[in-house]
Order: sequence, then C-alpha cells, then structure tokens
Amino acid sequence: MDILIKDIKQLVTCKNRSRYPKSGKKQSDIGLMEKANIFIENGNISFVGSNPELKKFLATNKSTKYEIVDASRKVIMPGFVDSHTHFVFAGSREDEYEMRLAGKSYQDIAKAGGGIISTVKAVRNTPKNILKSMAEERLKKFAEYGTTTLEGKSGYGLDLGNEIKILEVMNELNRENKYGLDIISTFLGAHSIPPEKNRKDYVQEISHSIIPIVAKEKLAVFIDVFIEQNYFDREDADKIFTMGRRFGLIPKLHTDQFNSVGGTDIAIKHKAASVDHLEVLTSRDIAKLSKFNKNKVNRSIIATVLPGVSYFLNIPYAPARELIQNNIPVALATDFNPGSCMTENLQMIMSLASLKLKMKAEEILNAVTINAAFAVNMENKTGSIEKGKQADLLIFDMPSYKYLIYNFGVNNLESVYKKGKLVHKNT
Ligand code: NIG
Ligand code: FE
Repeated sequence: MDILIKDIKQLVTCKNRSRYPKSGKKQSDIGLMEKANIFIENGNISFVGSNPELKKFLATNKSTKYEIVDASRKVIMPGFVDSHTHFVFAGSREDEYEMRLAGKSYQDIAKAGGGIISTVKAVRNTPKNILKSMAEERLKKFAEYGTTTLEGKSGYGLDLGNEIKILEVMNELNRENKYGLDIISTFLGAHSIPPEKNRKDYVQEISHSIIPIVAKEKLAVFIDVFIEQNYFDREDADKIFTMGRRFGLIPKLHTDQFNSVGGTDIAIKHKAASVDHLEVLTSRDIAKLSKFNKNKVNRSIIATVLPGVSYFLNIPYAPARELIQNNIPVALATDFNPGSCMTENLQMIMSLASLKLKMKAEEILNAVTINAAFAVNMENKTGSIEKGKQADLLIFDMPSYKYLIYNFGVNNLESVYKKGKLVHKNT
C-alpha cells in the first residue's frame, strides 16, 4: 500500500543534486527539513515537501488509498548503508580478544596461526546451509540498528570452493531478502595467504582461476585486496585488479591499517570505488587522493574509515578531519568481522566518529548514507530521501537528529522501511 508520512518533525534528506559524493564543506550538508512530508508509491519516494506542497501534490496525484503515518514527534533519515563488512563467517574469536587484552597484538596472534586463518578453518568446516543461517541471524541485528543496504566480503574461504560458498550465501540472502536488506557482494580472495599455498601461486590462482568464475557466475560486484605486511603487496593488488577489471569487477581496497603501505597509488591507478581503513594514511597519500578526486573526469574515490576497528584493536584512528579538509568524500562503516570489529551496530560507529574522528553530526550522517551509497555504487537507488529513490528510511523517536549521536549506546530507532515496506520495528 502507498504511504503518506506526514508532519515529520525533522527530516534529514541527505539530498544530493550532484553526480559526486559529498566532500569538504558539502560533507556537512544534510538537507534538513522541518514539518516535512513524504509520499511513497510502489516502494519508491514520489514526493518530499512542505505542507502547502503536499496539498498540491495530493490534488493531482492518482493514489487515493494510502496509509497515513503521523511523524510529528519523529526524526526521519535515510536507511543506513554499511559499505564495508565481512558478515559471512563461522566460529568466533573471543579467545583472541582476551589474548589481546593480555597484551598480544592482532599481528602476533595472526603469526601464531590465529586471526583470519582461524576463521578460514571454521568456514571451510561449515556446510553452506549452516553458514547461511549464521549470516542470516546477523542480518536481523544490522536491521535493528538501521542498516538497510549492506556490503559483504568473501575472504574466509581462500580457495575456489569456499570463496564461492561465501559469495553464494550472500547472493542467496540478497535474493531471499528476509530483513529487506540489499546485499552487495565483494570478492576478497586476497584477504590472507592460505596455509597450504605460497603467496605467488595464490595470486595466480585468484587471477586466473577464481576471478573468471566469480565474474561468469555474477557472484560479486566488487573486488578487494588486503594490502599489508605479511598479507599482500601493491604488485599483487595491481595484478588482481588488472584481471578483476578485465572481468568487470570494480576495485575496493583495504590499505594502511597497521603500516603505511601506500595502497592509494594502486587504488588511483585502478580507479577504485573506495579505499578503506586508512588508520595510518600519510599526508602524501591524502594529497594524491585529493588531486585524483579534483579531476571531475574521474568518479571520486571514497575514503571509508572504520573507527570501530581502531577502538576494538586499540590502534590509531584514521585522519578523518584531514580527509574532509582535503575535499575527499568520507564514508563510515562497521567493518563487522570476528577479528577486528565485532559489531553490527552502525550507530556505535557514529558515536566513535564523533568523539574519536572529530566528525560533526552532519558529516557523520552523510558518511553513513549518501557517501556510503556511492561507495557501493547504489547512489541512484538509496542513501538519500529524494523523489525517485527507493523508500529506504528510518523513523526515530527522539527530539532531534543530533540526539542520535549524543544519546549513545542505546537504540532510539523505532521503525525501518525498505523499499516502502516496514521491515523492522523495535519494540
Ligand atoms: O577489515 N584487515 C583485514 N581484514 C579484516 C579483519 C578480518 C579478521 O580479523 O578476521 C579487517 O579488519
Ligand atoms: Fe575489512
């Protein structure tokens, strides 16, 4: 049924009239409206406007039967886009968490056979249907905190069969659409070196055996590589991206998490959709990204920062202010995974972005909506509340949009609409 949401106390539209994501000063333009109304037809937004505008709209609109939602005491914003997660995995790593509390670093644990490889072992030993039900449970949690569009990466299989298994799980969950979430898949074969192979052979296998199959079966939109000491280097990423792009996959990159490894050069060379992590990104690399993004022939590279990882691993926070000052569009994501950030709650990440990255509330809201939508090539469908877009929106019971970040650690989200359907209600 069509829906009229009326008298909205505060409507954060994150409206974007340009072809580019929001950067610099525009990163804080959230298109705020008060006493606004939204009309939803066939799952899409057909009207956003003031009371007099609504009158005119209704006078000419064909739709006569519609549900009315009174939002005079509510704040509404676009459904959140979590543009970087690893939500399909088996097992858990709370033992490693305790080892870290006792003084071991993430890298120490990985060297001793833990880390990504311990999750790889668990995934390889888990049949697809069980892996799928584990992942499905997590979707419910994402929805509970307001995520309506979710990127997910493979990378815990590290061989053809198991990488395909993870990608198939994501594709099936997307088709079944149980909690309404759109799921965008990324092939991250180059997440770690499998224990049974050497790096060179594995990079060859990814490039020549796995990529062609992933692409032919249309199992992923993006291709990602983890550039880091003891994982993959820039040459590996260059090879993998060259082949991935030949098969129509769009690059994304994990770089500069623990060491400043300069992955941005590769991201720029291959016109990546985003560069992610960036905890120890250098000013030189920021300047390069800024220069690339200034040239409007290019599609901007989004900087996706993941403050939940810095919090969970006790490592430095990404230079978000410097990125914004240099006109680089910033997105925020959870990086939900069992080793470096075990939370599905994007609202928690927003709190960290405020206190630790010194981002303003408005910058944060664009970073989890429209800019994140750009990072997963979904900007034409979601990420803002505008005529023509999917009706992906969140209704909060709180006095103002700023309250969302101020009142941390609790969930003020009341209901979640995806493509015009009520997909979740918090009681
Ligand atoms: O994004 N950095 C590499 N990959 C993940 C961690 C994965 C894991 O520890 O299982 C990340 O932080
Ligand atoms: Fe990640």
